[in-house]
Amino acid sequence: MRMFGTAGKAAAVVAIAALALTGCGRSESSSSASASGGTGGFAANSTIGVALPQKTSENWVLAEGLFNDGLKAAGFNPDVQFANGGVSEQQNQISAMVTKGAKVIIVGAIDGSQLGTQVQQAKAAGATVIAYDRLLKNTDAVDYYVAYDNYKVGQLQGQALLDGMKAKKPNGPYNVELFAGSPDDANAKVFWDGAMNILQPKIDDGTLKVVSGQKSFDQAVTQGWKAENAQKRMDTILAASYNSASLDGVLSPNDTLARAIITSVKSAGKPVPVVTGQDSEVESVKSIMAGEQYSTINKDTRNLVNKAIDMVKKLQQGQKPDINDDKSYNNGVKTVPAFLLPPQIVTKANAKEAYANDPTLSKLVQ
Ligand code: BGC
Repeated sequence: MRMFGTAGKAAAVVAIAALALTGCGRSESSSSASASGGTGGFAANSTIGVALPQKTSENWVLAEGLFNDGLKAAGFNPDVQFANGGVSEQQNQISAMVTKGAKVIIVGAIDGSQLGTQVQQAKAAGATVIAYDRLLKNTDAVDYYVAYDNYKVGQLQGQALLDGMKAKKPNGPYNVELFAGSPDDANAKVFWDGAMNILQPKIDDGTLKVVSGQKSFDQAVTQGWKAENAQKRMDTILAASYNSASLDGVLSPNDTLARAIITSVKSAGKPVPVVTGQDSEVESVKSIMAGEQYSTINKDTRNLVNKAIDMVKKLQQGQKPDINDDKSYNNGVKTVPAFLLPPQIVTKANAKEAYANDPTLSKLVQ
């Protein structure tokens, strides 16, 4: 329950109390196979829906191909859709998957709190709903969650920011700026909370100085995960707060935004600070090797998609998918049984080792 902070915890307690009062509490063991298509599983060539968000980072683009290929190879009939048009398009796509009789619907939500009606329809039709990468919030119509440990991602980013600045300048104080992802994406706040778990004590003890004064999540967000929004915000902050001050580091929640921040700093004629990232995007791995971006996160999309497909295979056989976390991801209504994969921090120092098994990235880090 650490994922949603104090407010989330309070909401969770209220929700649990409400469930207990109405007698609707459901034990973990009864929430999967039997509640989603019976113990007999479903036909091996069934339709499996995969609802992906917008192409805001490379991992989503990779996921499309991997889901299509992996589900086909396992004998299923994949229906993989992007919702480039936004939330209502994604809502329609999920409804259409239900109509087509999808047995499992895997959802990478644009806005995890806007799909309640559609995932409820899916459950009513007997489908299993798996939240992929991003949690589905405020609904009990989600059976499983498969993701990299997002809180850990944030912690690794926070630590990398500190380590990178220390390597350049052994003693603080350090001038930093903080960026968060898109507030509609449930992950954005989790990344932020993980990072602030590391950085807040350093802000409090004066090691870090957020010169702009913009220290809250709401001030730091980047709508739509859009590079142009991060670049504009960095431009504005530099113009307002860094005429004489030097900028030592920037917390960036992902690679796309990291590169936008670096572009902004360079066009202001300033030296590139320590900038964090996430996703191991090709251009950012190149930037890291060139000594510009400081760090990224390795969250191999192949492993995440494979894990999601493993869940589908188990469900097809009428078995419970593997989970390794049944306490961290309370979505406001229920704690969603999760399988979390471990993210890895990558800097120039360990890039070669980190990407050894990646045919694309290994070529960039020789
Ligand atoms: C994913 C990140 C990605 C971001 C923007 C998040 O939900 O976990 O890997 O950078 O979305 O697409």
